[in-house]
Amino acid sequence: MPAPADTVRIRRAEASDLEGMLDAYEAVAAEGRFIGGELPVDRAGRRARWLESLGEESAASFVAEAEGAAEAEGTIVGTAGVTGTGPSELGMLVVPGWRGRGVGSALLTASITWARQAGSHKVTLQVWPHNTAAINLYLKHGFTQEGYLRRHWRRRNGELWDAVIMGLPFDEGVAEAPRQ
Ligand SMILES: CC(C)(COP(=O)(O)OP(=O)(O)OC[C@H]1O[C@@H](n2cnc3c(N)ncnc32)[C@H](O)[C@@H]1OP(=O)(O)O)[C@@H](O)C(=O)NCCC(=O)NCCS
Repeated sequence: MPAPADTVRIRRAEASDLEGMLDAYEAVAAEGRFIGGELPVDRAGRRARWLESLGEESAASFVAEAEGAAEAEGTIVGTAGVTGTGPSELGMLVVPGWRGRGVGSALLTASITWARQAGSHKVTLQVWPHNTAAINLYLKHGFTQEGYLRRHWRRRNGELWDAVIMGLPFDEGVAEAPRQ
């Protein structure tokens, strides 16, 4: 558990962060209840995909890097990825032990700011209905529930899990399609 004085730095991810990002992803996947990914993680495949996306203009990855904690200095304790600008799809996580300290909020703010500046009209995501912490985080940042997918994602144990679709549109003033 980090000491209260420990802080994190939010910055764009670089190729040298990939192993730390994979460790963070694996730690959260191991919990088995918050993200889509499950163990075993295909580190090689994911590393290759993430490396490719680091070079893409229409995507951004952010890391939260521990600062000031001797044993944790430089450790990646959270990640957020935004893909595309029409709309932008978000995925994020904070490793166990670093939650509830504002890291998720900081990563989400960086992601929303990037999406706006990249010209996206909206950020969209999916979240498990039981993931109260994440749903509250998104609500706090202005997202609303836009849909509900029933028995949508198959887990490795065969279970079918529901998913909540949440969105944060930026261009509320722009005209919508005509209603029937
Ligand atoms: C969801 C997650 C990213 C939140 O990150 P975090 O660093 O713990 O969140 P923060 O400390 O910035 O909290 C911001 C807000 O989130 C909500 N929140 C965070 N933890 C919460 C909890 N345990 N219960 C309820 N709400 C919670 C609150 O609204 C909080 O605002 P508040 O502090 O004013 O009450 C983190 O819990 C996590 O990584 N979970 C596992 C992976 C995951 O769920 N990823 C998202 C998949 S869709």
